[in-house]
Amino acid sequence: MNARKTLRQAEPVRYSRLLAVAAERGTETVTNDDVAGPIDSSDEWIRQRTGIVTRRRATADVDVLDLAEAASRKALDAAGLVGADIDAVILSTITYFHQTPSAAAVLADRLGATPAAAYDISAACAGYAYGIGQADALVRSGAARNVLVIGAEKLSDIIDPTDRSISFLLGDGAGAAVVGPSDAPGIGPTVWGSDGSKSQAIRQTHSLQELAADGTLGMPTLRQDGQTVFKWASFQMAPIAAKAMAEAGVEPDDIQVFVPHQANMRIIDQMVKQLKLPESVVVARDIADSGNTSAASIPLATERLLSEGSARPGDLALQIGFGAGLVYAAQVVVLP
Ligand SMILES: CC(C)(COP(=O)(O)OP(=O)(O)OC[C@H]1O[C@@H](n2cnc3c(N)ncnc32)[C@H](O)[C@@H]1OP(=O)(O)O)[C@@H](O)C(=O)NCCC(=O)NCCS
Repeated sequence: MNARKTLRQAEPVRYSRLLAVAAERGTETVTNDDVAGPIDSSDEWIRQRTGIVTRRRATADVDVLDLAEAASRKALDAAGLVGADIDAVILSTITYFHQTPSAAAVLADRLGATPAAAYDISAACAGYAYGIGQADALVRSGAARNVLVIGAEKLSDIIDPTDRSISFLLGDGAGAAVVGPSDAPGIGPTVWGSDGSKSQAIRQTHSLQELAADGTLGMPTLRQDGQTVFKWASFQMAPIAAKAMAEAGVEPDDIQVFVPHQANMRIIDQMVKQLKLPESVVVARDIADSGNTSAASIPLATERLLSEGSARPGDLALQIGFGAGLVYAAQVVVLP
């Protein structure tokens, strides 16, 4: 009988970092006037209440996987990698309409990343920050060397143009990041969580089973209790972001860039105030012309700050995602 062997576990890697962040926006610019009619709203009301001036939406021939693929290819290029260098693909989306197989597996194959591990996560607007937290853990545990994280949404597929609660906020886009091993710390601890007791605050109108039973219902669309979400995001998310800084061992004065989920400009302003971020901190305000793109909003906003030069590689950025679930995740990262 063989002597029992000692099990070998994966060798951990000390640090991880973002190697690249890239973005793909919908090509159509949709103004407030374009969406105001069916909800009896106005350009002025939408600007004042949300800070949105225009939102970007994709054309009918582009689906969420196309957006994800375009952003991923740019991220791989920027990282100097090809699909075959990726060990895991984590895709966050709520607008891929197959329960199975996953969008991530199809995307991995399109990118030439097969046989990378691939899976989708359902964490709505927190999905990108959830994905970065998972990628960091996979890289540092030795489970994967390079991980591709994508937040991709074609939210125009699930809007009801007559809905006053959320549809007018939404845009289409995809953001992708490559996470890999690093010589120095590049991703702080992820502070994440959920509160399912508020699962109805942002919800679908009906399930697919209900649609199957009653074909007149049409595709499910989104609804929200705006005030509930507004209060929760404005007042309960700042302490989560503060905790992410504390766990990363940094203070507001050490942060150069703040990239909150682009839900609403007034929520962004309220968080900046509560976090007492110094005026020198560059605050992402991509929502003004991209709209709320859910899981894509943080990487879209990050890529924009970097490409416009208002943020620089090496800057410390505090990012926080929050949304339907309710779920949230925050971490401090070194920008690539
Ligand atoms: C959706 C949101 C903009 C609505 O703004 P609000 O100030 O809360 O609006 P309220 O529901 O209190 O309604 C205020 C007034 O505006 C009106 N109103 C509501 N929605 C409107 C719309 N889309 N257009 C025009 N008027 C609207 C209401 O009828 C009400 O009118 P009244 O004062 O005459 O009764 C706001 O709640 C919000 O941004 N919430 C957070 C949303 C978010 O970020 N969600 C994404 C999370 S990931």
